[in-house]
Amino acid sequence: MQSKPLCILFLSLLLLPCLSFSISNNASNTTTTITHQFKEAPQFYNSPNCPSINADNSKNNKIMNQKEEKEEEAEEYSDKYICSKEAVHVAMTLDTTYIRGSMAAILSVLQHTSCPQNTFFHFLCSSNASLLHSTISKSFPYLNFHLYIFDDSIVSGLISTSIRSALDCPLNYARSYLPKLLPSCVNRVVYLDSDLVLVDDIAKLAATPLGHNSVLAAPEYCNANFTSYFTPTFWSNPSLSLTFANRKPCYFNTGVMVIDLERWREGDYTTKIEEWMELQKRMRIYELGSLPPFLLVFAGNIANVDHRWNQHGLGGDNFRGLCRDLHPGPVSLLHWSGKGKPWVRLDANRPCPLDALWAPYDLLHTPFSLDS
Ligand SMILES: *[C@@H]1O[C@H](CO)[C@@H](O)[C@H](O)[C@H]1NC(C)=O
Ligand SMILES: *[C@@H]1O[C@H](CO)[C@@H](O)[C@H](O)[C@H]1NC(C)=O
Ligand SMILES: *[C@@H]1O[C@H](CO)[C@@H](O)[C@H](O)[C@H]1NC(C)=O
Ligand SMILES: *[C@@H]1O[C@H](CO)[C@@H](O)[C@H](O)[C@H]1NC(C)=O
Repeated sequence: MQSKPLCILFLSLLLLPCLSFSISNNASNTTTTITHQFKEAPQFYNSPNCPSINADNSKNNKIMNQKEEKEEEAEEYSDKYICSKEAVHVAMTLDTTYIRGSMAAILSVLQHTSCPQNTFFHFLCSSNASLLHSTISKSFPYLNFHLYIFDDSIVSGLISTSIRSALDCPLNYARSYLPKLLPSCVNRVVYLDSDLVLVDDIAKLAATPLGHNSVLAAPEYCNANFTSYFTPTFWSNPSLSLTFANRKPCYFNTGVMVIDLERWREGDYTTKIEEWMELQKRMRIYELGSLPPFLLVFAGNIANVDHRWNQHGLGGDNFRGLCRDLHPGPVSLLHWSGKGKPWVRLDANRPCPLDALWAPYDLLHTPFSLDS
């Protein structure tokens, strides 16, 4: 991971328990010690018109270790809550570098949905599961969630190096394995990146109609130059470029997607994505990391979602670090995609104007916010 280490060392005057962990930042022996301390989020309650589902979350909060365990435990959670048709399922990845962003995203989902107790989170992590589990549980004691351990080795052999090495992190590819990792009774999930906040009800996004055969729904950007996502090698080889022959492919961002898990499992799209990654290892057909395989498999066949659900690019210009403005139109979700992250800029005292919209969801204790 090439992202700047989030190095937040601060002196707490209170003797609160500290969560500390270290991240080995690259192959060389550098470790950055991070001391993080997060506030507890308030409890959020369903509004009276929410469909009621069994809200005993004591069983709905655990680490799902291996596939075997998943089968064993299937009965226990295949009942009541997680399989309820009324539950809204959200999936995110978790790691120690982006945990602050993830926590803000979770808080924003809970705060803006009218049925927070019917919202179920599925977290994928590749290491430090117990640390991440306890960090989440401490800040969100009432959250319904499962944490799944994603085995990095599944994809590490399939990844070839891209121009932004942060995009090569195996966890970035975990979204392709959601249909395998999540319990089979979960038919639909909203996948969210960790560098975003919602300012609208996620249930609306989750209810996006997928038509007769779409597997995915996401905002599409048909003005983006689709050609540029693939190499001349790809376009000049008819057996490859014919992939798009009967489609009208448009770019979409994989950071916000509604996924029909049932259709995905039926079509075995995980294998199709892996096949493109295999090919990429042998001949360079694209540059960026985990996005192009999604475009190859799905572009032109997805259900469109209003652009309000992914106001992306707020991380700014990847090369010069410039601030970006919102795209015109209404906003339901703000996404700091790109290199800059709001928490890094806020800490450095060089925020972009829109970072002020992220700050209210930050759960990190700062020396100046010793409330709670
Ligand atoms: C997980 O934690 C261990 C030590 O607790 C650390 O060495 C390792 O780098 C961490 N991994 C990640 C991905 O943060
Ligand atoms: C890893 O860290 C070392 C020491 O900070 C640095 O010199 C080196 O350039 C880094 N390597 C990469 C690939 O980021
Ligand atoms: C790596 O870190 C450990 C613990 O800090 C240290 O003992 C060791 O000498 C380091 N190795 C290298 C090659 O820097
Ligand atoms: C789209 O991108 C391709 C490859 O990067 C380039 O050759 C082409 O001129 C671009 N088209 C437009 C309309 O910008």
